Amino acid sequence: MTLLTLLFILRIVHDLAAAILVGSVIFSYFLLRPALRLIPPAHAVVVAQRVGNLFTYTGWTALVLLFLSGLLRLYYTGRLGFIFTLGLFAHGPGRSLAIMILFWFFTVVSSTAMTFVLRPKLMKKLTISANPTLADVEKRRATQMTASTWLDRLQLSNVITSTLALIAGAAIAHGGLF
Ligand code: HEM
Repeated sequence: MTLLTLLFILRIVHDLAAAILVGSVIFSYFLLRPALRLIPPAHAVVVAQRVGNLFTYTGWTALVLLFLSGLLRLYYTGRLGFIFTLGLFAHGPGRSLAIMILFWFFTVVSSTAMTFVLRPKLMKKLTISANPTLADVEKRRATQMTASTWLDRLQLSNVITSTLALIAGAAIAHGGLF
């Protein structure tokens, strides 16, 4: 395989992963979230959990693929060392590359909080054997409500950060955003 073919494949992987990530965060925030409000809460919780599970896999796969394909592209074009120097900020495309990576990082941070902190709180079950009191049930409900509010906020934050990364990425080949 020639270097050009490899770079082309990496670009396709990068672009598809970006499309899947941005498409799915927009779908879940602007289409799925309002639709869930229209069905009975008990059903909405089940659908949200199932879709959330799938979304956890697709979202993380896209984020990892973006990182690997981006890094490999930099490596095979001999620019990997360059991103660790201040020279990166000296020209437009370099600045946009930095913005793309920064917003990827923000998306990873908020996805980590969603996957490992908020979703476990939302999914936590009270076992009968633990003999929960009414106060325990109330406390869990309050925790779940807070977790759900924060999940909504971080979903919106992911819409914003991943879209900004995409815009910065698309601008690289056109001299950068500024
Ligand atoms: C949410 C995360 C990201 C999104 C949405 C994104 C999106 C994009 C888009 C749309 C392009 C333009 C591709 C084209 O012109 O066909 C691009 C290019 C690129 N991205 Fe990303 N990207 C992300 C994260 C990353 C990361 C983490 C890295 C590296 C560690 C990276 C490295 C690159 C490179 C090297 C290019 C090619 C620049 C060039 O034209 O030379 N990207 N990205």
